[in-house]
Order: sequence, then C-alpha cells, then structure tokens
Amino acid sequence: MRYFTTTSKASRRAVDCVIVGIYERGKLGAGAADIDSASKGSIKQLTRNGDISGQLGSCTVLTDVAGVRASRVAVVGLGKFSSFGVKQFCRALRAAINAISKSNSRQILNTLTLENVANTDPYYLARHTAQTIAGTLYRFTEMKSGRKKAGMPLNKIGLAIAKRGDAGRTMRGSEHGDAIASGMSLAKDLGNLPANVCTPSYLARTAQRLAREHKYLRTRVLNETEMKRLGMHSLLSVTAGSNEPAKFIVMQYKGAGRDKPVVLVGKGVTFDSGGISLKPGPAMDEMKYDMCGAASVIATMAVIAKLKLPVNVNVVVPAVENLPSGRATKPGDIVKSMSGLTIEILNTDAEGRLILCDALTYSRRFKPDVIIDVATLTGACVIALGHHRTAVMSNNDDLADSIVAAGESSHDKAWRLPLDEEYATQLNSNFADFANVGGRDGGAITAACFLGKFTDGMNWAHLDIAGTAWKSGKQKGATGRPVPMLTEFLLARCGPLP
Ligand code: BES
Ligand code: MN
Ligand code: ZN
Repeated sequence: MRYFTTTSKASRRAVDCVIVGIYERGKLGAGAADIDSASKGSIKQLTRNGDISGQLGSCTVLTDVAGVRASRVAVVGLGKFSSFGVKQFCRALRAAINAISKSNSRQILNTLTLENVANTDPYYLARHTAQTIAGTLYRFTEMKSGRKKAGMPLNKIGLAIAKRGDAGRTMRGSEHGDAIASGMSLAKDLGNLPANVCTPSYLARTAQRLAREHKYLRTRVLNETEMKRLGMHSLLSVTAGSNEPAKFIVMQYKGAGRDKPVVLVGKGVTFDSGGISLKPGPAMDEMKYDMCGAASVIATMAVIAKLKLPVNVNVVVPAVENLPSGRATKPGDIVKSMSGLTIEILNTDAEGRLILCDALTYSRRFKPDVIIDVATLTGACVIALGHHRTAVMSNNDDLADSIVAAGESSHDKAWRLPLDEEYATQLNSNFADFANVGGRDGGAITAACFLGKFTDGMNWAHLDIAGTAWKSGKQKGATGRPVPMLTEFLLARCGPLP
C-alpha cells in the first residue's frame, strides 16, 4: 500500500473516493465542510432531509457531487462531537471502508481526524488509520473453492493533515501501521487455517520462509530427536499421542549488534483436543486457534524485520498437536522437564504450560534481557477478563508496566493480574515436584505460577491471550492480537527512531 499526505482541500483531490465525517446534530467535520461549500450546501441539505446522518457508524456514499473532483464522497457518521475519540475514529473509518468495499476505488483520501482532541499525535492517528483500513478489508478465502471475488483494488491512501509539519510523523505512522497490519494478517491467516493444514511443520515452514525474505533474520527448526537429546520430555509428552511430528522453531533477528535480546515465546498447539482428558465436543473446532500465541510472535518478528528495527529479538515456538491415542500421555503420568524438575500430569488438557516450560528453559541460552511468553493458556482467563483485554502476569513490575502501557498506546489492551506465591501452593503434588494443574480457582494465575517455576532469575512476563486471540460465533475468526501490543513494546525499546 502506498500513502501520501495532503493539506489541500478535500474537494480538490481527484481520487476515487474521499471520506468525510459529520457529527450528530448536523455539525460537519472539516472535510465535510469543504465538500459542502464546494457543492453549494449539498451536504447540509442532505442532512436536513434526513438522507445522511451523524449517527456513529452510519455511512452514505454519494457520487458525482457537483464541484467535487473525487468520483465518490463517503459521508460517515461520527456520533457526538464531545465523545469522538480514537475508538470512534476507527469505528467510523471501518464503516466508510465497508461502504465502499464493493466499489472500484483504487485511490482514497481520508479526511477524518481527531479535530476535537487537543494534541493528537499524527503518528498514532496514521498508524490506526492504516491498521483499520487493512483490518476491514481482510478476508480469509484461502480454503474456499471456485473463483474468488477480488476485493477492492485499493493501492493508495491519502491522509489529510492540518499542517505541513505533521507530514513526517504521519508518513512514519502509516509505514508502521502498514507493517503491523500485514503482521496481523499473517497471524490471522495462521490462526484461521484449519489444523489439518496448519500443522507444526506448516508453522516451521512459515518461519523458514520469513527468514528467506528478510535480511538479519534466521530460522532454525529442531526435530523430535533433537528435543529428546535436550531433555524436553515435558514438551514431548504432549505430542506423544499425535502422528504429526512436533517442531521446535527458533528465529533470531539481529538489529542491534550485541545487545541482550528480547525473547518472545509462543504457544504453538496446532490443535488441542485435550488429549486423554478429552474436551467436550461443542466448539472444539476453535482449538485450531490454540497456536495463536505462536502466530503472534512469528508475525511480530515479520513486522520487526520488515521495519528493520534496531532491536535484537529471538522467537521460540514449541509446536505440537495434542491428541489422544494408545501412545498418548495419561493423567497421573510423571515427566522430567528440560530444567530437571518433575511434573505430575494430572490433566492432559493443561498442555500449554507443558510445552512452554521447556521452551522457557531452552531460552536461557540467549541470556534474555526480557522474556515474554504469549499463549492461549486458560479458559479461566476468559472468565476473568472476557474478550477485551489480554492478561499480563510478571515477576517484574517495570516490565509489566511497559507491557500494559504498550497495550494502551497501540489500543491492543492488557490488564495485569497478580502472581503472589500463595497461589503456587495449589500446584503441590504428592508424587512429583509439582502438578500441572491447580484446580479451578484462579486458574489463569496458577497456570502462570507453573511457568514461573521455570523463569527464576529472568525478567519474565506471561500474556494469556485466550480471550483476545480470536472471535467466536457468526464473526468467527482470528483477531491478529497481540501483534500491535508486542510491536509497540519493541518500538518503545528502540527509543526515538532516526
Ligand atoms: N487451550 C486451552 C485454553 C483455552 C480454552 C483457551 C478455551 C481458550 C478457550 C488450554 O490448553 C486448556 O485446555 N486449559 C485448561 C486448563 C485446565 C485443564 C487446568 C482450561 O482452561 O480448561
Ligand atoms: Mn488444553
Ligand atoms: Zn491448549
């Protein structure tokens, strides 16, 4: 996608579509006001007649507006002027893009801004614009047969800015937004692909393809024999029932010389049936999304490499399938993890932590400055926070704070849960060093406590994305979260970019 900025009047640009906004009670946004005066009051007239409305999310597409160079004018409702913020901005923009998505628009100009909010950063506005447009146009059609409908042939997006001085930050924001959007599309694709296509081997091949596409990026994939040699018996116990070979994916991006890296670990269970502790049937198909942690860290790596950011990042993905069979791990089985600690597997459906613990131990060799694991780890997390915020648990307050802050500025929000050691007693076992489950109470936290047993001495945070990685129901599909938050976290570590 190409972007440009413009300070000229909306009515003067010969694009295929210009997007303008009107507030409730007939107040016109800057772009709409210009179109209105160029067209001798047509917008105000239509508002008076009730043909267009300021209701947030409504949109009417006008064609051949007199005195306007653009072929179409999408007039979108912005809601109340006083409550128009970033959320409303994205919602209005989404409505406009949906309204014109069946048109033949190649070049569009967006005039929506946050004109009522003092000191909006043009960088974030452009980033949200790029992300929202790409997110609205995203379709997953890979598995549909027949001729695929081509989407809108959009290739150029203009961003109206108030003053020339905003151009630099705006272009930087659109560049970052565009890269984040393509990372989110990759994460969504990997999530939406069915488990018979997106296997551990498929994830490994994707990581290897990315390494071929980007300089400074390397990928290594370990097979089960190599994992056995490393002592990853906890990870291997999860794949025992499956015929799909497990893969251990390691990606390394070097953008900052000899700095200690940020290590991102992603849960890559390409299908979670629960194993012998089999899950109930309804909605079990959604357990193809149990690799969304892996998808998000691989996709974030793609964003970082595309933007050539000055950071060092390692990605570690334990990728397995969790199925029952005659060779599957049974409740009560005890395994020795790579760290040497023994685990009594009381529930084979608590498998995420069993693969992550060996990935966390393996990651010690990178001497991480910080290590963050990302996982669709517990149903309990969905009970605690619902589908709006990712849960953060950490042994380091500064790290937790900067993750939550990155969530706020990228509008990919997170909320911290406690991690007191009292919770860990729920994992006590009569037979091994500890058990892999701690009962229903505080399930998201006891899962994190389990991981915490393997992160001693590291600055570590755990993100439970069970509620935020995908949507159920009619809108079923992966969200691409938390790619924006992770990218923001890494961008913040880069300091001001040249
Ligand atoms: N992948 C699931 C967690 C999950 C469930 C995410 C539903 C999103 C929706 C995980 O492997 C799991 O099964 N966790 C168990 C843990 C329990 C056995 C302690 C759970 O949450 O029920
Ligand atoms: Mn499970
Ligand atoms: Zn799982």
